[in-house]
Amino acid sequence: MQEATLSARRGAPSSEEDDGRDESKTKKPSRLAVNVSPYLGPFVASAPCLAITLPLLILLALAVAILSRSRSGILVSPLDTLPRVPLLLGSSLEGLASDFGSLGVPLCRSKHGKIVEWTSKDLLKGLEEFVPIYETRPIKNNMYGMGFDHSFGLWFMARWLKPDLMIESGAFKGHSTWILRQAMPKTRIISLSPRHPEKYLRKGPAYVDANCTYFAGKDFVDFGSVDWASVLKKHGIMDPSRVLVFFDDHQNELKRVKQALKAGFHNLIFEDNYDTGTGDHYSLRQICDQFYISGGGHSCFKDSDEARIRMKRKKFWEKAVDIEELCGQGEAWWGVRGYMRDDFNHSNKPISYEEHIQNSRFIESVLDIYWELPPVAGPSLTHQTRYDPARAPNPIIEDGKFGLFRRLGLTRFEASVFNGYTQMVFLQLSASATR
Ligand SMILES: C[S@@+](CC[C@H](N)C(=O)[O-])C[C@H]1O[C@@H](n2cnc3c(N)ncnc32)[C@H](O)[C@@H]1O
Repeated sequence: MQEATLSARRGAPSSEEDDGRDESKTKKPSRLAVNVSPYLGPFVASAPCLAITLPLLILLALAVAILSRSRSGILVSPLDTLPRVPLLLGSSLEGLASDFGSLGVPLCRSKHGKIVEWTSKDLLKGLEEFVPIYETRPIKNNMYGMGFDHSFGLWFMARWLKPDLMIESGAFKGHSTWILRQAMPKTRIISLSPRHPEKYLRKGPAYVDANCTYFAGKDFVDFGSVDWASVLKKHGIMDPSRVLVFFDDHQNELKRVKQALKAGFHNLIFEDNYDTGTGDHYSLRQICDQFYISGGGHSCFKDSDEARIRMKRKKFWEKAVDIEELCGQGEAWWGVRGYMRDDFNHSNKPISYEEHIQNSRFIESVLDIYWELPPVAGPSLTHQTRYDPARAPNPIIEDGKFGLFRRLGLTRFEASVFNGYTQMVFLQLSASATR
């Protein structure tokens, strides 16, 4: 397929015939890999000439020492809005460092600042266990579906939360169903998807689970139209707070949160939590991007610091957006150029800034926990070229820790599996909100 076709953002089809594929996951390392690789050179394993690499290694050691003093592993607190580490190594490594330090990255505030139970250590331990599992995945090429980072996140959270039932909305060929099954071998799954994953078996690898109720194909029902009380009863589930719901269906996440609240579900994971100005549906990240949030709100002035920073980041990262792309008519920067997108961008509605504020106030009022999964490793290790690391939490394995990256077996994977990160998010809705 043509590079240009793959990179074009679009409203992916979502009907049973054309199946909504997530093209935000499709791009292989390419043009930008060429641009960035010279800057990444000092970090990678091979060192052709000691005379050239020695000074660089000294610089690197210095930087690692300073960086490790300035941040301790990953950040798991949803309240984390600390500025990112400033650029220390000079202009040749600009693409890796975060100029967004001065602007920050907005996160959804929860009511009481509750945080997740797991720590950075738990994530690292989980990674060690997950790598050999991921190697046995039946669908090796999951273009349009989840890559390594989100597969790990889903597996880790499902295993940690140990739900009584797992619901998945958006199955595609069944990779995420397989991940849920690896996390919880005996737990029932309910999977909703317009096209049954078994249909893909005709063309190649797909996964159909024996302990899964499929609302798919002719039995497809949208999550918002299911009579959850009766479905849960049928499956012997008395307490909806013991259910984990995973959304990878590219629907407006505000709509999905309201539907989940109505059904009494507390634990939700959204696969695609797109940054402001990107993606095909209104996401939690977009909803919570507000001037009153640290790092939130944007400037549409062409002569602003933000405009300059964005222009610079765009040179390095494919999904970075500049002011032109960010801002729509009347300097509308929220959502995507002032639009609330839904259903793979098949539907989009302009919203006022007041409405956008109300949406985030609503989300804040029902949230106990908001936690964005960090990327598994820094871009100098994964060689991913798509998402801007400055718009993501610090990775589990930070740049420079190649030994750890290799020890965990992550060098065995193609770079393309690390290209699909879109800030997967875990939400815990408060009990009072679901009553
Ligand atoms: C990005 S794919 C899912 C990828 C899958 N989770 C994986 O990791 O491989 C999106 C899926 O959502 C499905 N979809 C489209 N509209 C939907 C809806 N209203 N409810 C549930 N799934 C929907 C599409 O048919 C497609 O299979």
